[in-house]
Amino acid sequence: MNTTLLMPQQSKTHSLDTPIPQQINIMIDDLMASLPDPTQLTSEEQRGIIARYTAVLEGNFIYWMTATLLSVQSEDARPIILDNLHEEVRDAHPAMMRRFAIAAHAFPTETDALDVHEDLTNIRLFLGRLSGVQSLLTMAFFEGFIQKFMAYLAALARAQGSTDMEYTDVHGVCDIEHTDGLFRAFSIEMALSPLDPKKDLFEGVYLLRTLIQTIVFNRAATLQA
Ligand SMILES: [Fe+2]
Repeated sequence: MNTTLLMPQQSKTHSLDTPIPQQINIMIDDLMASLPDPTQLTSEEQRGIIARYTAVLEGNFIYWMTATLLSVQSEDARPIILDNLHEEVRDAHPAMMRRFAIAAHAFPTETDALDVHEDLTNIRLFLGRLSGVQSLLTMAFFEGFIQKFMAYLAALARAQGSTDMEYTDVHGVCDIEHTDGLFRAFSIEMALSPLDPKKDLFEGVYLLRTLIQTIVFNRAATLQA
């Protein structure tokens, strides 16, 4: 883990010989390894990460998954996404997210929301293009990341004096299954409606990785400094 809030550089090259889920997992592991050590962060830095994460996730996850649902052509891929959405709505995950942030004294401020504005907009516009395989891969990357990120987010919240860990407990477990499901949906969709070879399969994954790096390293604030 890094001990500073310097944003790491990450490559955009990926090997054609490595299976795609494995490439995504390597990217997730690289991202996790780049996270700053929570114990080395100031209280404001800890709060900021939770707040920016909440500013992105609370209002957008269901929207992104819905955009992905609208983008897929394959009838067999749809139930996998619908299951995920069903759970989000039935168990009120945005409410859980908001409770988590409030308990950690990290409810997003206007500044927190604006710090992620540009990178969040890029994801919204990308998913709005409704490109099935690219959207599914992006969401698989996200679910895989979240599942591994939960212990880190919980550590930040504990450092802020919180004991409300329902959000991190739930997502550390259920997202393992969600990630597998999305990879399954991705290969179904790839078989039925493959991406134009001139396009980059990882386009959305890279945009999302940038957004996550902004959540963690607050790129907007770094650029202004
Ligand atoms: Fe959720």
